[in-house]
Amino acid sequence: MPVALREIGTSGIKIKPIGLGGMPLSVSGRPSESEALKVLEIAVGSDLNFIDTADVYCIDEHDIGHNERLIAKALKRYPKNNVTVATKGGLVRPRGAWLTNGSPAHLLRACEASLKSLEIECIDLYYLHAVDDKVPFKDSLEALAALKKSGKIRNIGLSNVTLKQIEYARTILEVAAIQNRCNPLDLGSFQEGIVQYCERNSIAFVAYSPVGGSFQKSRIAEHPVLNKIASSYQANPFQVVLAWLLTKSPNLIAIPGASRVESVSSSAGAMELTLSLEDTNEIDHAFGG
Ligand SMILES: NC(=O)c1ccc[n+]([C@@H]2O[C@H](COP(=O)([O-])OP(=O)(O)OC[C@H]3O[C@@H](n4cnc5c(N)ncnc54)[C@H](OP(=O)(O)O)[C@@H]3O)[C@@H](O)[C@H]2O)c1
Repeated sequence: MPVALREIGTSGIKIKPIGLGGMPLSVSGRPSESEALKVLEIAVGSDLNFIDTADVYCIDEHDIGHNERLIAKALKRYPKNNVTVATKGGLVRPRGAWLTNGSPAHLLRACEASLKSLEIECIDLYYLHAVDDKVPFKDSLEALAALKKSGKIRNIGLSNVTLKQIEYARTILEVAAIQNRCNPLDLGSFQEGIVQYCERNSIAFVAYSPVGGSFQKSRIAEHPVLNKIASSYQANPFQVVLAWLLTKSPNLIAIPGASRVESVSSSAGAMELTLSLEDTNEIDHAFGG
C-alpha cells in the first residue's frame, strides 16, 4: 500500500512521513564522502523525499555548509528527484562549539550562504535553529519574515521551541513546521501539548533524534519491550519506534539520522510497518506516554 504523505504546514509540499536527518554525515565521527553519498543515494532510491540539514552540520566554523554541500552534490546525480530539503540558521560553531546567533544580520548572511551551498534559488523550509536569548525573539522572527518576503525561503520553521514561543511567533509570521527532539525517552513535546497544538493548527511537527540520538540510541536498541515487539514483526527496535511515533499524530514527520546505509534502509523500511493497537499501547505504557 502506498504510504500516505504528510504536508509541511499548509504549503502544499507533501512528503513521506519519514525523512533523512543529515547531521551524522557531517559532524565529528562522520563517514568518508563516498560513504556519505551512498547513504544519500539509498535515501533517494528508497523514496525518502525529505532531507533535513543545517548550515552548522559540520566540524567547526571553517567547515560551515558541509552537509548542505554534500546534499547538493548527491541530488545533482538525480536531476528528476522530488526531494524537499529543509535547512536551518541561527547557530554558529566556533572551534566546534554549538552556540546561538539569532541576530537578523547573522540570519540574513546564513541564509545566503545556505542558498549557495545547496545551489538553489529558494529554500522550501527554513528554520530558526534555536532561540537566541541574547537577541529579542521578535528580531529573529522579523528577519525570517523578511527572508520569506524577499523570496529566499518559502516556508518558515522553528526548532527547539516551547509552546509559548510558538504562540508568540504566530502573531508575527506563519509557522509551517516545528522541529523538536522527540522520542520515547523524551516525550516533552507531547507533555507540553506541542504536538497536539501543531495538529490543531495545521503545522508539521518534525521529530528530531527520533531513535534517541547518538547518545541514547543504545537504550532504544536494548529495550526489552521494543525488542519483543520488533521480533513479532521481523523488524528492529528502531523501526518499531519510528512506526510508533508516526501513530501519534498525522502531522508528525520523523527524521532519523544515518551515517550508514544499513540505518537509512532500515528507517525507510519502517514506513511499511503498521503496529497493532495493542503494541502501541504497550509501548506507551513502557515509556509512560
Ligand atoms: N533541530 C535540532 O536542534 C536538531 C538536533 C539534533 C538532530 N537534528 C536533526 O535530526 C536528525 C536525527 O537526529 P539524530 O541523527 O541526532 O538522531 P537519531 O535520528 O535518533 O539517530 C541516531 C543514530 O541512530 C542510528 N539509526 C537511526 N535510525 C536507525 C534505524 N532505522 N536503524 C538502525 N539505526 C538507526 C544511526 O546510526 P548510524 O550513524 O550508525 O547510521 C543514527 O546516526 C539529525 O540528523 C538532524 O538532521 C536536529
